[in-house]
Amino acid sequence: MKYKIHKVVFPVAGLGTRFLPATKANPKEMLPIVDKPLIQYAAEEAEAAGMMNLVFITGRNKRAIPDHFDKAYELESELRANGKLKLLELVREILPPNVSCIYLRQVEALGLGHAVLCARSVIEDEPFAVSLADDLIRPPLNTPGCLEQMVKIYERFQCSVLAVERVPKHEVNRYGIVETRSDQDGTQWVTSIVEKPHPDATQSNLAVVGRYILTPAIFDKLIVTKRGTGGEIQLTDAIFALLQDEPVIAYQFDGKRYDCGSKLGYLQATVEYALAHKDLGNDFAAYLKNLIL
Ligand code: UTP
Repeated sequence: MKYKIHKVVFPVAGLGTRFLPATKANPKEMLPIVDKPLIQYAAEEAEAAGMMNLVFITGRNKRAIPDHFDKAYELESELRANGKLKLLELVREILPPNVSCIYLRQVEALGLGHAVLCARSVIEDEPFAVSLADDLIRPPLNTPGCLEQMVKIYERFQCSVLAVERVPKHEVNRYGIVETRSDQDGTQWVTSIVEKPHPDATQSNLAVVGRYILTPAIFDKLIVTKRGTGGEIQLTDAIFALLQDEPVIAYQFDGKRYDCGSKLGYLQATVEYALAHKDLGNDFAAYLKNLIL
């Protein structure tokens, strides 16, 4: 039977330690890039890919996320009363009305794999997407977003799909790294996956980034996955187990990824999104030129 991907899981229960103290009381997924929080970019990408059920795995200090997607009655009536109708539209249209949000709590931050497992009761027996909002991915002009590109691959092959990109060899110890075998048509089949390997321990520099389409068989693997690298229950280890039973594709997406969980990546995204911003871009470019010359 062919399934469509209706559901996306947003694990947002991490501690965000690399961004302390900014993330002490606020989730890192609420950090804005110009004028939108990271989680909104991620939700818009998922919605554009046809995913109408958004499942957030939240933790401590994450109330700002449900608040962001909730109706804000007081703010709306204030904006209406002051005739600020454009702003009113902006806060009312954060998500279209046919999109539903579900919030589940990960009581302890035991790792990404554990966070995904928390979604099992809602996902049930369907393939689903996972999106890490701190990986912000900007597609080229007139190209669909990363999740939409991955849905097309899923629809063709009906198996799990991991978004991957090449990283400098000395950085492989920061990522899940896949080894692959390529088909004549260029499809890359994962032959092995390992979390944060030492650069000498792998030939590959193909890193998994924060977008996945997974079959529900992953849950049976996650439930028996022991704590791995960093003492966390790693999604990577469950994908390794899945690979013994099912094919998994590594998909090199079309687009630029910004690692907004790191300060440098966050600043790069801020600068590039500001330069591309329709109201702000020209002034910001002029400012930067002045600053640098
Ligand atoms: P990270 O590895 O970026 O960890 O998690 P983190 O805690 O968010 O950030 P640092 O490294 O301390 O700065 C990758 C993704 O997995 C989620 C995070 O919210 C992030 O989207 N995550 C991680 C959970 O939801 N639960 C966890 O237990 C761990």
